[in-house]
Amino acid sequence: MASKVRFSLISILLICITALAQGRKSLYTRNDFSANSLVTNDGICKTLVETQGYKCEEHTVTTNDGYILSLQRIPTGRSGKKADKPPVLLQHGLFCDAAIWLFDSPEESLGFILADSGFDVWLVNGRGTKYSTGHTSLTTYDMAYWDWSWEELANYDLPASVEYVFNHTGQKIHYAGHSQGTLVAFVNLSQGKLLNRLRSAALLSPIAHMNQLASPPTKLAAQFFLANDVYWLGLREFIPHTNNVAKFVGGICFTLNQPCLNLITFFTGPNCCINSSRLDVYVDHEPQPTATKNLIHLSQMIRTGQIAKYDYGLRNILHYGQLVPPTYDMTKIPEEFPLFISYGGKDYLSDVQDVKILLNDLRNHDANKLVVLYKDEYAHVDFIMAIDAKQVLYDPMIAFYNSN
Ligand SMILES: *[C@@H]1O[C@H](CO)[C@@H](O)[C@H](O)[C@H]1NC(C)=O
Ligand SMILES: *[C@@H]1O[C@H](CO)[C@@H](O)[C@H](O)[C@H]1NC(C)=O
Ligand SMILES: *[C@@H]1O[C@H](CO)[C@@H](O)[C@H](O)[C@H]1NC(C)=O
Repeated sequence: MASKVRFSLISILLICITALAQGRKSLYTRNDFSANSLVTNDGICKTLVETQGYKCEEHTVTTNDGYILSLQRIPTGRSGKKADKPPVLLQHGLFCDAAIWLFDSPEESLGFILADSGFDVWLVNGRGTKYSTGHTSLTTYDMAYWDWSWEELANYDLPASVEYVFNHTGQKIHYAGHSQGTLVAFVNLSQGKLLNRLRSAALLSPIAHMNQLASPPTKLAAQFFLANDVYWLGLREFIPHTNNVAKFVGGICFTLNQPCLNLITFFTGPNCCINSSRLDVYVDHEPQPTATKNLIHLSQMIRTGQIAKYDYGLRNILHYGQLVPPTYDMTKIPEEFPLFISYGGKDYLSDVQDVKILLNDLRNHDANKLVVLYKDEYAHVDFIMAIDAKQVLYDPMIAFYNSN
């Protein structure tokens, strides 16, 4: 019983909710989905991009701490016309990988829409996801491989990918991030980093302050995670689609007496506009593993509302020379840096009140360098998968890129 409760609470942290969307399918109709999908290496270019009639290149970059990340580049639109606009780098959120930008039709998916609009599109796959499991000296079976949180994504993955694209194109880059992909950008921008490499950033469903989450179970889950951090760190790798996790999601649905599909709503908000008949495609690609340390770090943010470095408790002194972890200050984001921030009225994870705190941090931002797009009907996943996202969100985003 205890373990059922424990597992049910964790699931709340499945921030990229394809995880749960697929929960329903994979958990009930398939048992051994992970093993196969993790070992086949058919590549995002081959399976999701070329099949739609686009050219695609596979690239890899090695971070300063040894992780080998894969990137995909879509250098031309469907017409075959070479990109005549700057590179755009797309950074996915927690439990996702680059596939998330390509799931719907070319008319609906941001990755394709940008390519057809003349941008040179680059998609990153964060460490530990299906196509980014390489390391110069470690394997995913080593505990040390999973010793990271979003801070390492900000300090290593982000700079390496940005530098790589800059090196290849010789041009400053437009950035697009969803969810955790916004957090890493906020953190670096607030340090005055990346400015000489980025032209602008579009941040969808922004994650910065996380204190006001509308979903009480999320807070409960965060508390639970924190209370058991030693146990969780022992596991290191959090793989959403293993049998154990399948059982726990099944367990929640049972405990809460809810059909699992409604759990998506329960945890991320009522996504208005996702095409449910595309679930099969999602199931083949998501969710991706992450480090349990990352989930603990996110839980710390939910508990404190602070955007701070990892809290090592008594060992903070050793890590930081002070008792409490240093915080990141969003008011330090340079006022003239072009930002596009889009948030939704139904998003339980990027809560409206939390976004307002962030926007207050940005109150001195140059008015003509900050575009804020609010969509009342949108919840967390709509920002990457809504069938009307092109009109609602991506067209304004492209207009923003074009003017910066
Ligand atoms: C992002 O910030 C971290 C911490 O300040 C820094 O180590 C890293 O180099 C930054 N990335 C870039 C590209 O500047
Ligand atoms: C980018 O180019 C510089 C200069 O050639 C090189 O030192 C650096 O390793 C390259 N970085 C990446 C990530 O490719
Ligand atoms: C939803 O997905 C199905 C299956 O891929 C597709 O046939 C249909 O056109 C999609 N609907 C919309 C509105 O995109």
